[in-house]
Amino acid sequence: MRTVLGIETSCDETAAAVVIEGRQVSSNVIASQMEIHRPYGGVVPEIASRQHLEAMADVVAGAVAETGFDGLDGIAVTYGPGLVGALLVGLSYAKALSLALDVPLIGVHHIEGHLFSTVFEYGDWDYPALALIVSGGHTDLFYLPAALTYERLGHTRDDAAGEAYDKTARRLGLGYPGGPILDRLAQTGRTEAAPLVYRPPLIPDAPYDFSFSGLKTAVLRYIREQQIAPLPEGPNREAILAQAPDNIRHLAASFQQAVVNTLISVLERAIVAYRPRVVLTGGGVVCNSALRQALAELAERMGVGIRIPHPKYTTDNAAMIAAAGYAHLVRGERHDWSLEPAPSLRLGSHTAARPQPFRA
Ligand code: KG4
Ligand code: ZN
Repeated sequence: MRTVLGIETSCDETAAAVVIEGRQVSSNVIASQMEIHRPYGGVVPEIASRQHLEAMADVVAGAVAETGFDGLDGIAVTYGPGLVGALLVGLSYAKALSLALDVPLIGVHHIEGHLFSTVFEYGDWDYPALALIVSGGHTDLFYLPAALTYERLGHTRDDAAGEAYDKTARRLGLGYPGGPILDRLAQTGRTEAAPLVYRPPLIPDAPYDFSFSGLKTAVLRYIREQQIAPLPEGPNREAILAQAPDNIRHLAASFQQAVVNTLISVLERAIVAYRPRVVLTGGGVVCNSALRQALAELAERMGVGIRIPHPKYTTDNAAMIAAAGYAHLVRGERHDWSLEPAPSLRLGSHTAARPQPFRA
């Protein structure tokens, strides 16, 4: 087992990548549908499926251009969670390729893929490990006692962090996706100029769960009280954003600080309790400048390595799927043609709370 083709179509990126020995990215092709979904302010599932169908063959051909189909030893594909119609496109394509080339197929959990997104820059990791995955669809904290063993310690009770970013941005008329835009506006805002009445929730018996609904309410209340008008619509977004008033910039900074504080406080609590050898991070929100800085500071403060992937690997891509698939394929694991898309697939065992956490 050497060369694995990864395929990812769980949401709005059609992606394929060839990865050598689970580590070395030979190609990483991503056809983003962002511009197509932008006018709708979010991903439209039917449009996503159709776009995947149109892009799939070219994206895969682009990814294997150097290796060639003959050079493939395995095919790894996301089979859940995600949009069912979108997953179906990648999975059907992967099954057909696997059958035609007589190459083993492995289905990969999308979040397990995100967990492998640090491997390209940092290599393998030691156990026990913790993993924080923060994206538009997920905000999850995992404990990894050993290789390919996952216990979900906590998850979001309501919105994912990226979803909170996207909804807040929509309310302020900033556009989609909201994360990068709010991140940028926050750089020129002052948190103290937009104080939000909000306390990060500590959920009884679930110390590693997250919640962003209280923050969402606080933002709404602030917008109402301060009578902040959303930015106007218009074709030249850059020019409109450049003229965003100070009160929107201050609110962006304050909102961003609250999201980052929520994520860091839960992660810090878990580091104290579980004493991991390393912390892995992944998911689109890990592109966030304030979160990256706060993670680096937390690593320093706690004396633990926190692996933060390059932005090109934090958002959805197929290299991470190939890397995760490789880890399973080398153990002799395979899927057969009966593999179906699993829109609500869960990863590992789920612990609502562990009263007796592991101590090194
Ligand atoms: O991992 P991803 O590409 O797709 C999912 O699996 O959801 O994450 C997309 C999410 C979006 O909600 C987007 O707003 C958010 O990641 N995001 C950010 C930043 N860049 C992307 N959120 C905050 N700050 C950013 N710089
Ligand atoms: Zn993702």
